[in-house]
Amino acid sequence: MLKLTCILLAVACATADIYMHNPRGSNNRLNERSANRRNANRAFDSQNNNRGGYNVGDKGTSAATTENEQYNMKYFQSSSASNGQSYLTVEWTNQHGCGGNEDTDPHKVNCNMVLQYMCQPDDGTASQADRLRDGLNTNTQGYTRPAARGELKSTYRGRKNNNVKPDRVLQEPHEWYDKCLVRERNKGLFTADQKLKSNSGLGTSGAIYTRQNPNGNRRGYECPEERDYYPYWHPTPWKDIAVLAENASMCNHYQTKSFNVQSYGECVEYYSGNDRRHFSRWNNQTKCESEPGNRWVEFSNFLEKAPRYTSEPACTGASGNGIQYIWAIPYDSPDGITKECLVALKQPECAEAPWTRSNHLGNGRDGVASNYTWVLPHFPSGKPQRCVLRIRYNISTDDFDPYFTNAESNKNLWKGVMSPVEQNPYVEIGAGHSPLRLAINTAQFGRTFQDRSHVFILKPRPAGTENHDIYNLNVRGKRGNIVQVYPAVEYDFIPNMLSMMENDLVHVQWTGSNSHNNGAPGGDGQTGDAGEGTTGTDRNNIVQIGVLDENFPLTFNKTTLWKNAEVKWIYHGKNINTPKNLALNMASSGYYQCKMASECASESAERKTKMNNLLNNAPASYEGALLKLKKGIYHYICSRNNNFTNRSQKGTIIVL
Ligand SMILES: *[C@@H]1O[C@H](CO)[C@@H](O)[C@H](O)[C@H]1NC(C)=O
Ligand SMILES: *[C@@H]1O[C@H](CO)[C@@H](O)[C@H](O)[C@H]1NC(C)=O
Ligand SMILES: *[C@@H]1O[C@H](CO)[C@@H](O)[C@H](O)[C@H]1NC(C)=O
Ligand SMILES: *[C@@H]1O[C@H](CO)[C@@H](O)[C@H](O)[C@H]1NC(C)=O
Ligand SMILES: *[C@@H]1O[C@H](CO)[C@@H](O)[C@H](O)[C@H]1NC(C)=O
Ligand SMILES: *[C@@H]1O[C@H](CO)[C@@H](O)[C@H](O)[C@H]1NC(C)=O
Ligand SMILES: *[C@@H]1O[C@H](CO)[C@@H](O)[C@H](O)[C@H]1NC(C)=O
Repeated sequence: MLKLTCILLAVACATADIYMHNPRGSNNRLNERSANRRNANRAFDSQNNNRGGYNVGDKGTSAATTENEQYNMKYFQSSSASNGQSYLTVEWTNQHGCGGNEDTDPHKVNCNMVLQYMCQPDDGTASQADRLRDGLNTNTQGYTRPAARGELKSTYRGRKNNNVKPDRVLQEPHEWYDKCLVRERNKGLFTADQKLKSNSGLGTSGAIYTRQNPNGNRRGYECPEERDYYPYWHPTPWKDIAVLAENASMCNHYQTKSFNVQSYGECVEYYSGNDRRHFSRWNNQTKCESEPGNRWVEFSNFLEKAPRYTSEPACTGASGNGIQYIWAIPYDSPDGITKECLVALKQPECAEAPWTRSNHLGNGRDGVASNYTWVLPHFPSGKPQRCVLRIRYNISTDDFDPYFTNAESNKNLWKGVMSPVEQNPYVEIGAGHSPLRLAINTAQFGRTFQDRSHVFILKPRPAGTENHDIYNLNVRGKRGNIVQVYPAVEYDFIPNMLSMMENDLVHVQWTGSNSHNNGAPGGDGQTGDAGEGTTGTDRNNIVQIGVLDENFPLTFNKTTLWKNAEVKWIYHGKNINTPKNLALNMASSGYYQCKMASECASESAERKTKMNNLLNNAPASYEGALLKLKKGIYHYICSRNNNFTNRSQKGTIIVL
């Protein structure tokens, strides 16, 4: 009876959270028209409320039914020039508070954030079973375990092909989960009084079992042990961006232990010869090499590979201009022996985590939502990349030392060891047999939340823009009023107030979905999608206004934004970008490319079927334009969503 209560409590408690708002965090959603996500195990373990998240973007006016109809945000990479950075504002809300100074501030939990990404070249070389994708349905990828540690290569190939479905989301590779399942978990970790299961048949207690995931539940091909801990002690496919630490004094630890800059070991077994098997039971060198033929290999992480340099001198000699090449064994090496030329990663940025209020999604200091400006990487190969961004929100308690409590403190009645924390314990209050019960779930006492983006593209820059910093100006939020969208947010431009210099560029771009109906089931909140235009659809545009507290757009004659804009690049590639055409393009979300048929034929306002005045027949996503603006202050709104008493979708660009 007591046990049952605990289990029920554990489920009821699982509603806390981090939600990424820019880029749009999926919280495992894809395209469901319900307020609740359909499948919390689709790609990763978020431990968030079922209502959070944003659907994948659609290119056109209806919900995508093919991958080609989905819209992937396309950000320009940084260039190799020092004044050629690309800035993307990552914004999120987290629920239990974070940051603050132990001595002077309310500091109710220990908290750290880890931001990471992974990419692969978007050049058609990845096979169907390896291509990063959002998928077309909300099912979790399939998985059957290897039947034996000595699985034949042909058996593994067949198993992988059966497991990986082309129409489902894929983030971590299939091999990653195999590795995690077969490898012994780290038995030095503190697991309190949780009973971790083990793999029947394989004879191991794999790294899929952790204190937070004692039953080994699977989400996509994510590895639970890697998910719960950072920095991880084996190679991972993730690249570190930043760690927002509980205490800045820990930054040196994170920065030097990051797999970006520190190699990590993995046991390599072979099918035969130098043909590497992608999994091994062993998690340490001694046990690994005690089996003949195995090798313990230190693997390196990398931004991308540079196969054009085929020798060590050529490779390391190519370093310069802020790019460092290293000659090392990549973590995905086919033999675990051959060194390759790799573009090195930089150590992650590290700073103290921003302060946020507890029990409240959204408020940081001065009411600003938590954010981090990601300087997008530069890929020297010039190849576009398909990528996913991940943020983890990790909170722990001081009821036991969060960093130095280890397996020696795990509950072990044979050895007479009691865990320092136990499930829903009773505490005496001096009233004899009348104690109080505390709400403690040891699987969540010390807990990691997560959100991830949908797939986005990092594109090489258009020629001639290398020496300009680029600011990404996007839209966050989804259709509905404040209680309907919660814990996602209402529409807004992001950054809402963008400050840039005359030599900088702004990339205006947005994405929307046609399936944000927010219908039943509504879970813990309201259903419904109050808003203008066709139900379930997001639409955006930009029209200039005079001052921020007005809501009526300026007539073209009075606008300055488009007259002061030099178009460095625009998605349609046509040389028709007069201020009037640019204004038309931004106001119509790309529905009209120009005014006159002589300029852009069937895409002109003269020829094209009339645009709906609520943008219903305009595309949900807009790849936009890269603009250089003259000094000035520009205010603008979205004409469809800005609705004085209900919704404010206004922004400002200040050019200095
Ligand atoms: C960080 O740790 C140091 C040393 O333990 C301590 O003096 C300082 O107050 C801590 N800072 C915060 C923000 O908690
Ligand atoms: C979370 O914090 C704990 C300390 O309580 C640490 O052991 C773990 O590695 C952290 N995990 C992540 C993902 O930051
Ligand atoms: C190595 O792994 C084996 C099997 O998991 C374990 O029994 C042993 O304690 C480990 N040794 C070290 C040094 O971690
Ligand atoms: C990000 O947070 C900082 C610190 O609170 C704030 O100054 C800045 O305006 C925020 N940026 C955006 C784009 O919201
Ligand atoms: C705007 O607010 C009014 C009054 O609160 C409400 O009746 C109306 O439905 C709201 N409109 C939208 C689009 O939410
Ligand atoms: C806009 O300005 C142009 C030239 O300055 C003028 O010819 C035209 O009449 C104006 N249009 C409106 C609607 O005011
Ligand atoms: C906002 O939108 C709602 C729904 O269309 C409408 O009822 C309301 O009148 C609008 N308010 C304003 C000020 O336009």
